[in-house]
Amino acid sequence: MKATAVAHPNIALVKYWGKRHVDLNLPSAGSLSVTLAGMKTRTTVTFDPQLDKDIIFINDRVQTGRRLERLSAFIDRMRSMAGVGWRVKVNSENDFPTAAGLASSSSGFAALAAAGCAALNLEPTREQLSVLARLGSGSAARSVPGGFVEMLPGDEDADGTDAFAEPFAGYAHWDLRCIIALTARGEKSVGSTEAMLHTADTSPYFEAFVDSVPEDIKRAREAVKARDFLALGQVAEHSCLKFHASAIAAKPGILYWNGQTIGLIHRVRRMREEGVKVFFTIDAGPHVKVFCESAALSAVREFLKAVPGVHDFIVAKPGPGVRLEVENGRLIPAWRS
Ligand code: PMV
Repeated sequence: MKATAVAHPNIALVKYWGKRHVDLNLPSAGSLSVTLAGMKTRTTVTFDPQLDKDIIFINDRVQTGRRLERLSAFIDRMRSMAGVGWRVKVNSENDFPTAAGLASSSSGFAALAAAGCAALNLEPTREQLSVLARLGSGSAARSVPGGFVEMLPGDEDADGTDAFAEPFAGYAHWDLRCIIALTARGEKSVGSTEAMLHTADTSPYFEAFVDSVPEDIKRAREAVKARDFLALGQVAEHSCLKFHASAIAAKPGILYWNGQTIGLIHRVRRMREEGVKVFFTIDAGPHVKVFCESAALSAVREFLKAVPGVHDFIVAKPGPGVRLEVENGRLIPAWRS
């Protein structure tokens, strides 16, 4: 009744922004991402008949209130799948900042789903694990497989079992680097669910964003397959700016960026004008993720350092999907093949 899983966050190159079904966490459109080694969540789950309530620690902080409710409701799904009522103790550690627009919910729910299923002997397939992780957080579905991943939005609204993530190129396919430039400390201002719903309700640009996603996915898939960096950069930056534009145009507008975010956008564009192959993407927070090929890493990092107010960099690269930790720390796939 105890298991440990390790998952990596993923960064979307074609963004997910909007839900067509809130309870089942079904996306309004697909998305496309890369799972990133270099940052990880490690989660241990223990179901215990002696406990009378769930006790959940994230980075040694006990969870309370709405956060605890959200996590317990997620674990309830696994309890009902296994026909078990026992309460749980969870210990989850991120080796990178939590809830700051760095996709900690993606690795967090992927690791929790995998460790919870293993502790309950549920043996899900990769698709089933991705569906389960999606119920915790939409982007978590994409942290189940490794490498380059497409999230299929599905069209089954009764139970959402066809909305899961599928890998289309392994992590060794393309030796990219992602430099995450941290521009602020602390947690993000508006959570993604609340912000998505507010955008869908009030932004005149929301539907235009959603309508544009399928074409972006097609172009991004082709660019990844062909390892066409400039083509991938074009579609990724466009998708990122369209999602932010739709959120900025909500009433009142949601603006995740700070001054350093904008400084970094200009810096990346300047580098590109000077011939460096580089592009940026930004999620629901002020940090900027800059992609380049491995050979350009140190030059790009030096260039980014010139932007004042950027307090740290994390370097990541395409990595594997969620895995279970077994004896001697050995990692094995978290799904039944
Ligand atoms: O998985 P959520 O609910 O935290 O939403 C993620 C939303 C973005 O990070 C902004 C975009 C994406 O596709 O990851």
